[in-house]
Amino acid sequence: KPFVDDLVDMPTVRGYDVVSGLPISKRLRIGMFAKKWKFHRDMPATTVFAYGTSWQTASLPGPTIEALHGVQTDVTWENHLPAEHILPWDPTIPTAIPRTHEGVPTVVHLHGAIDEPQSDGNSLAWFTNGFNQTGPTWSRRTYRYHNHQHPGNLWYHDHAMGLTRVNILAGLIGAYIVRHHEIEDPLGLPSGSEFDRPLIVFDRSFRTDGSIYMNSTGNNPNIHPQWQPEYFGDAIIVNGKAWPRMTVRRRKYRFRIINASNARFFKFFFTNGLDFVHVGSDSAYDERPVRLKNILLAPSEIADLVVDFSMSRTNHAILANDAPYPYPSGDPVNVANSKVMKFVIKNEHELDTSRVPEKLIKYPTEELSAASQTRYIAMFEYTTPSDEPTHLFLNAKPYDAPATETPKPGTTEIWNIINLTEDNHPLHIHLGLFTVIDQTEMVDLDEFKTCMEKVNDAVKCEIEKHARGKKLEVVKHEKGWKNVYKMQPGFVTKILVRFRFIHSNESYPFDATADPGYVYHCHILDHEDNAMMRPLKLIN
Ligand code: C2O
Ligand code: CU
Repeated sequence: KPFVDDLVDMPTVRGYDVVSGLPISKRLRIGMFAKKWKFHRDMPATTVFAYGTSWQTASLPGPTIEALHGVQTDVTWENHLPAEHILPWDPTIPTAIPRTHEGVPTVVHLHGAIDEPQSDGNSLAWFTNGFNQTGPTWSRRTYRYHNHQHPGNLWYHDHAMGLTRVNILAGLIGAYIVRHHEIEDPLGLPSGSEFDRPLIVFDRSFRTDGSIYMNSTGNNPNIHPQWQPEYFGDAIIVNGKAWPRMTVRRRKYRFRIINASNARFFKFFFTNGLDFVHVGSDSAYDERPVRLKNILLAPSEIADLVVDFSMSRTNHAILANDAPYPYPSGDPVNVANSKVMKFVIKNEHELDTSRVPEKLIKYPTEELSAASQTRYIAMFEYTTPSDEPTHLFLNAKPYDAPATETPKPGTTEIWNIINLTEDNHPLHIHLGLFTVIDQTEMVDLDEFKTCMEKVNDAVKCEIEKHARGKKLEVVKHEKGWKNVYKMQPGFVTKILVRFRFIHSNESYPFDATADPGYVYHCHILDHEDNAMMRPLKLIN
């Protein structure tokens, strides 16, 4: 039964101390624990993996870390997980970590962070309980987050090689906010823990005993006994509750919506026609607010929204979803996964001093001509003769082939992402933010594909001759700085990636060229694990 559990707030943890009224840096210890979690009133408790400052307070999602711009937060991430995983572990996907039955490999990535490679959660820097075993690029227990970047929404999640999809399905996710009071407070947006809330949304299926259901047989068991191209669940979970409800006052609220699904795209809308006012995308503010009737969010995209419930003519509003899955050409939503949560709106009108200003934050724009490099990144899917997907690659290269994307710190580059598959893939780049320039349909795609299969070189295959079909307009609210974007199938997407801060020209306060470097990948976790991920190595 939907809408019977109240929305819960994740505990918050401050990433700074205050001494004589001034904020100073702080070290946190956050563990990963196995515990029981109630997703729904009528369902038995579920064993999950959860982040927390202790086993007692561990939650799903984990605590929201509140950081301050300019004040460093150090986090010692500790693995307290049991010897065995709660979900199936497929040893056949490329670069799979061998299963030892002596612990669950984990590593934490702060998504959207601009920090040193050793603190970036490299997939091979994994570690098990008590750091008993560590991966080949593991170097430190405590990660350093400079928080030197622009204010906005980040999230932390597991990133262990070949296990990201199951570790995140098990619950290893949480929100992280970088605040910059001098810049943000004058905007006057809804604020404070009552009116400014993260909503972390994902889909899950459960067995009747409450355990998380994931197919234990893959679609292609001879090749991958368990791996499947996309995980989809039927229950929609918001802040750890299935289809929750929230009672709201007749005024404005700010919701920072994070799509933490493995593979599900959401197209959110309100059943009573209420608008969203979009103020930020991924980790960065928009230059101006954009009013929307619906919002499409790919896995790991973030929408920072204001909703004004005083405009509602009804006393409730259901947040609904109508994105087909897989996106864009999969099944239509059903009675379960079309509902997200319910807002019960109080009757009394009240004084609301919060506002949405006409201008938010303007970052310097970057000219295409400033780019020092043009790269082509092709997305490939491989199948069996009977058309079952076996794996996906970027540039036809496995993860462990030497890095080919090697930008210089401080520069800007043009990346053309050519999607030769039939699905939309949300591409995420660590460290560098980007703006989307345009998306152009490829003509004579089969000819181009055949050439790419032979020579795997977009220039030799005359990309410019093929990239001249119709253009897809970049929608207004996605014209700013992004860290994930939706790569339309059969299109080439041109992006401008900046390997320095977006709010200033200062160079990084760390060595971005250090080992083990960064990665870029598809954020459909089942694709990322098998192995739609490549190293991103900065060099001087
Ligand atoms: Cu949100 Cu490399 O990940
Ligand atoms: Cu993908």
